Amino acid sequence: MANTGYGAGRPHRPLLERDGELAALDDLLSELCGSSPGSRSPGTGGLAAFAGPAGLGKTVLLGEVRRRAAARGCTVLSARGGEHEQGMAFHVVRQLMQPALASATEEEHRAILGGWYDIVAPAVGLVASGTAGVPDPQGVRDGLDWVATRFAVQRAPLVVLLDDAHWADAESLAWLTGFAPRVAELPMLLVVAYRPEELPADALAFARLSERHGTRPFELVPLTQGAVGSIVLETLGEEADEAFSREAWAVTGGNPFEIVELTAKVADHGLKPQAIHVPELRELASAVKGSGLVERLERLGTSVVRFAWGAAVLGADATRALAASVGGLG
Ligand SMILES: Nc1ncnc2c1ncn2[C@@H]1O[C@H](COP(=O)(O)OP(=O)(O)O)[C@@H](O)[C@H]1O
Ligand SMILES: [Mg+2]
Repeated sequence: MANTGYGAGRPHRPLLERDGELAALDDLLSELCGSSPGSRSPGTGGLAAFAGPAGLGKTVLLGEVRRRAAARGCTVLSARGGEHEQGMAFHVVRQLMQPALASATEEEHRAILGGWYDIVAPAVGLVASGTAGVPDPQGVRDGLDWVATRFAVQRAPLVVLLDDAHWADAESLAWLTGFAPRVAELPMLLVVAYRPEELPADALAFARLSERHGTRPFELVPLTQGAVGSIVLETLGEEADEAFSREAWAVTGGNPFEIVELTAKVADHGLKPQAIHVPELRELASAVKGSGLVERLERLGTSVVRFAWGAAVLGADATRALAASVGGLG
């Protein structure tokens, strides 16, 4: 799936049908910045979690949080779990700390990490672990608690974004799970997004975090036919007819990623968005969804993927047989 990161430079597309989520985030940001009408003490932190399968709009939602937080003058730190970096201890924590540490000297690192320097610096890769071996994980977590608490207070209001938490390394997730309950007393808003189906079994405590905060994770739902219709109109123009846009909704199930990809493909092919072209629309849709096979294979492990490529080299019959067996498993 294409990397639809929330960095700078992407055209700003309005988020459809996420008013509830955005209103809740605005409330949390107001609490954080001490600007909500009834706020008791300025700078109350919080936690928000967004759960949904691939393509439902988690990354763009976090991008919107980043934009709104920056507009209110918050410090924003962000990280994203990576499928290929999941085995690297504290990879996510390193990403979060990167902006604060990257351009700093060792002396400044010592100032930021305080008395925890010897324990935290090797864990976050500032210095080689050396002969002392791997630091005690509980010690590192305690150190990170201290560093994060102080950073939140010094750089308040602080917003921390973690995208694709289902791929976060276990060490970072364990730390974050332990630390998160403290945000209620800190000027720090933590916003996480993940695919619930893909959270590792040992991340159950993480998945329950937002429930412990008295809220449920926001489960992102597919777009309605009306929203899909407006994306079709916006991308393909006024000549798009009702039957075409209804079919676009039906074949994508309202998945925003799929609808955006599909309408782009329709435009690329110069297909007129009208009822008589519904058969071609279906063909393009199966090409968009076709990438799902690779995703399913990847989930089964690299040896299966390697076998699949081997089968593809061997010929179409072997590939079909494999696809059928994977489909049966999936
Ligand atoms: N609510 C929405 N309204 C319009 N387009 C959306 C919406 N949510 C997502 N998209 C589009 O769908 C695509 C996938 O969104 P993304 O945030 O990358 O999904 P996820 O991170 O959940 O996999 C992006 O191109 C984005 O612009
Ligand atoms: Mg994403």
